Amino acid sequence: MSKSGREVVLGVGGGIAAYKSCDLLRRMQEQGYLVTVVPTPSSLNFVGSATWEALSGRAVYTQVWENVPDVTHVQLAEHANFFLIAPATADLIARIAVGRADDLLTNLVLATTVPIMIVPAMHTAMWNNPATVANVATLRSRGYHVMEPAVGRLTGSDSGQGRFPETVAILDEFESITKKKKDLTGRTILISAGGTREPIDPVRFIGNRSSGKQGFALAQAALSRGAEVILVAANCELSDIPGVATIRVESADEMLNALLINLDKADVVIMSAAVADAKPKHFAKEKIKKALFGSIELEANPDLLLTLIGKRHKGQIFVGFAAETQEHMISAKAKIEKKDLDLLYLNDVSGGAIFGSDSTSGSILARNGEIIPVDEMSKDTLSHLLLDQALHKLG
Ligand code: CTP
Repeated sequence: MSKSGREVVLGVGGGIAAYKSCDLLRRMQEQGYLVTVVPTPSSLNFVGSATWEALSGRAVYTQVWENVPDVTHVQLAEHANFFLIAPATADLIARIAVGRADDLLTNLVLATTVPIMIVPAMHTAMWNNPATVANVATLRSRGYHVMEPAVGRLTGSDSGQGRFPETVAILDEFESITKKKKDLTGRTILISAGGTREPIDPVRFIGNRSSGKQGFALAQAALSRGAEVILVAANCELSDIPGVATIRVESADEMLNALLINLDKADVVIMSAAVADAKPKHFAKEKIKKALFGSIELEANPDLLLTLIGKRHKGQIFVGFAAETQEHMISAKAKIEKKDLDLLYLNDVSGGAIFGSDSTSGSILARNGEIIPVDEMSKDTLSHLLLDQALHKLG
């Protein structure tokens, strides 16, 4: 099972309300859920796989004989923390009630042991039919959470019970099941992202390959869990996240200033930025001519983390990142000690791996020597994992 506790399988049945689940998926992502969509084959008549893949950013399968080597029906069933089936047609409810496994979704439902919420949507007559009533009662008696469909206008001109509920109502009910409320409400998280650039002349700089994706993923995850988020972003080609106070900077010195100004209010400081260790000693106001471009004299940049930790107030949690290409664990252990960090995420960046990618792998090290291995996962999932750990340390 995923350690982030936010992995959800969104099952989509073959009803016209399938199109409304596109919005549901978006809202779930904004709430910090990591969603894999599993449509039934008939639902593809309403919304195609390409739409779900584009919206979820994940591969979409409908049958067990797709992606066979990965045994998707077992892997997804084990990986998910919750199932949300919306919309569920009368037929899908019937198939689940009798334990059929004739597509990927019903296979997953049989294979999983996690909580399942079902949101029915169908014509009133079908909802009231004794067969459906009995099937729903069976599912409820087995612990499935079956939401009451809304009353109102149906697909045709008539109205009654059976309408797909509003997205907010579905999410509210889903949250009461997942109990993943806003666990960072009242906390301020200060995050650095991206890579600093140290100017040589008006045209050139010393930079690095950091994209800022990890820092932005952390900001989005913290925001979705109710935190106040301040993001100091160095040279990231990523748009501001509404609700996150973003300060754009260029060099290590600018980053340090922005972090220092905001340090006092922070409960957690996460330094995911790649800070240049040195900068040109002299900045040339004019572009340096090729003939004069021999060597650049460098001077050390301040260590931002060490500077900030020197001013830490009691209870503040510091999370560092380590990008290593050799002797990873030894260097990481030394870094956590030297910088007096609470947590450190170590990633192996040999050959430029991880920079610019949406996924990551490595290890989370804690001050007490605990090591949590991080197998290949999205930067979103890692963000929640790190926030879980930081929250644990905050107490
Ligand atoms: N860091 C920092 N200031 C610097 C350099 C790094 O605050 N001048 C922070 C990074 O944001 C990261 C952590 O320190 O959270 C470790 O960064 P890394 O580059 O791996 O380590 P360095 O301290 O630079 O050590 P070295 O390059 O010798 O491995």
